[in-house]
Amino acid sequence: MGEGDACVKAIRFCSTILMWWEVLVLGCPEDLLSLATTYVDNAYAPYSGYRVVAVLRDVHDRVFVGVNVENPSYGLTVCAERVALFSAVTAGARRFKEILVYTSKPPPPIPCGACLQALSAFDEGGLRVYVHVGGGLCESFALAELLPRPFRL
Ligand code: THU
Repeated sequence: MGEGDACVKAIRFCSTILMWWEVLVLGCPEDLLSLATTYVDNAYAPYSGYRVVAVLRDVHDRVFVGVNVENPSYGLTVCAERVALFSAVTAGARRFKEILVYTSKPPPPIPCGACLQALSAFDEGGLRVYVHVGGGLCESFALAELLPRPFRL
């Protein structure tokens, strides 16, 4: 094994440890999680049966909630993340610290490409994305990790 391979392995090992440290030690912000479990039944998902809540916190600690809203014309469905974001922007919020995306059963609600792009327009580099499936572990990502090359004008 060359030095380069050993280095790559060491970096992978460290990032795995860091990920588990974040998952086990940091967890999801309790207040956002509590709101998410309160609102999950308000998700309107009669077609997929997959209910999602997003709770977004701005830099002034104001919190905004969104749920997924499905439509019989499926393409009109809006994800919980964008509902939360648009409601926040409507209230005048522009800078955000973190967003928790929650559902009660697998798979984990990793934000889709459209939501990542929408959020990235309001990310100054530090927006954290928490993903949580009820009763499970909390995953944590930097938005830029999920969407490294957002479109910018
Ligand atoms: N959905 C969200 O609201 N957020 C996600 O992060 C993943 C997907 C919704 C859209 C649709 O109503 C349902 O989940 C199934 O895709």
